[in-house]
Amino acid sequence: SVLVLDFGSQYTQLIARRIREIGIYSEIIPYSTPLDTIKEHKPGAIILSGGPNSVYGEDALLPDKGIFSLGVPILGICYGLQVIATHFGGEVAVSSKQEFGRAKILVDRENDVAASRLFSDIPDSDVWMSHGDKVVRMPEGFSITASSGNSEMCAIEATGSKAALKVYGLQFHPEVQHSLYGKQLLSNFLIDIAGLKPDWSPKSFIEHQIEEIRKTAGNATVICGISGGVDSTVAAVLVSKAIGKKLHCVFVNNGLLRKNEGEKVMSILKPLGLNITMVDAEEIFLKRLKSVASPEKKRKIIGRTFIHIFEEQIHEEKFLVQGTLYPDVIESVSVKGPSETIKSHHNVGGLPKRMKLKLIEPLRELFKDEVRAVGRELGIDEDILMRHPFPGPGLAVRVLGSLTKERLDILRDADEIFLEELKKQNLYQQVWQAFSVLLPVQSVGVMGDKRTYENVLALRAVESSDGMTADWAHLPHEFLSHVSNRIINEVRGINRVAYDISSKPPATIEWE
Ligand code: XMP
Repeated sequence: SVLVLDFGSQYTQLIARRIREIGIYSEIIPYSTPLDTIKEHKPGAIILSGGPNSVYGEDALLPDKGIFSLGVPILGICYGLQVIATHFGGEVAVSSKQEFGRAKILVDRENDVAASRLFSDIPDSDVWMSHGDKVVRMPEGFSITASSGNSEMCAIEATGSKAALKVYGLQFHPEVQHSLYGKQLLSNFLIDIAGLKPDWSPKSFIEHQIEEIRKTAGNATVICGISGGVDSTVAAVLVSKAIGKKLHCVFVNNGLLRKNEGEKVMSILKPLGLNITMVDAEEIFLKRLKSVASPEKKRKIIGRTFIHIFEEQIHEEKFLVQGTLYPDVIESVSVKGPSETIKSHHNVGGLPKRMKLKLIEPLRELFKDEVRAVGRELGIDEDILMRHPFPGPGLAVRVLGSLTKERLDILRDADEIFLEELKKQNLYQQVWQAFSVLLPVQSVGVMGDKRTYENVLALRAVESSDGMTADWAHLPHEFLSHVSNRIINEVRGINRVAYDISSKPPATIEWE
């Protein structure tokens, strides 16, 4: 495997991702990991990530020096390059010209390492820079292999008597997409130089995780909350492959789910062999939410009630499975301890501490599309794998104002039509999220010569890559017209449909 030592760069996870794309297993560990632990991983190559600090300041983060004598090829990226330069006696200083963004590198083909294997098949090309410091004096025994306008020592490597060390440094970021030949470069390093085999696949990931989960859980029993979403489902199926019936899955019907959701989820998951309990808690949720109109109050009541219901299901379990993904891990691992890295709005976020449960998070190194690939390999239904995100508080934040079962049912019926039509017209996968919102507004209409005074429904569909920013989806007018007709004709209680054309920011994706 490849070890990525994390010095706190915002791009560390991208490095791991690119390596995975090349087909090689990688793990990210804190920069401060002791040498013995590093050795236990038996790395085939080590990559030193970028980072926000300076190698010369008081806040310099430095790895165990022993990594440079392991005989393992090392590639330093940005801050990682500066770590290498300093370690081998070079000098790093603040750059008079900071470099952020696109730059062009000139690959040096004239010097003694003209045949730098790192740059084989890589022409002079655009790369992505993001640094304030740079190497100002080369370490002895190193040569420059590429330069850019602002940094002459843009790529360096150990040569001559030091060549056997196989130590390389890059000032730019090969892991970002704007570095055109970045992936080729990483592949040159890992496959040609380090001699690693590209054999990482969802299948090998699953095998590895099953082993790890068995090691962690031992004979203990484990609990998992199932939401019906991609992440918790894949995590649960993976853990159940490892420990079978020792995993107890809990699916809470909070009465705020989409139409027939409970049945759907159970019918998809049961055949996968999960030991799963569905808790029907609709009544208690709706009772506690009665006459509550404030969005924040609704969210808090739902969060608290969920924890309360879930706690009742915990008996002798020692571990809690969570489908935490890489993007959920807010801070990079090196800067904060692992226990602080869980997103606070996760539904069961408060549980592990309160119940003294330890976490099992088999997906925490993966990106969404990788989770889907793993799920496919595990035989999980495509319908679940390709689902849009769904908020923890469910339809409570989509029936605006105070909730009643009747209003929730109206929304469910309308939303079902919207989603059904999106799938039928192959539009579902083209948007990030699509859903309906029932407004606390009535409007006048006319139906069969009769005056009506009924609810307004808003349709919302957005395009986004991470949910942080979003634009409204430009769905075809004929499509919207067809959906609107169907909803008004088929759903009692709605006589008007509107389409939300606001972007995020300044609006948010959900209405509450
Ligand atoms: P907003 O409305 O903030 O939503 O633009 C961004 C994304 O997050 C989802 N969302 C939630 N997901 N628990 C969740 O797990 C929540 O409380 C929650 N609130 C919003 C929303 O659906 C969108 O994808």
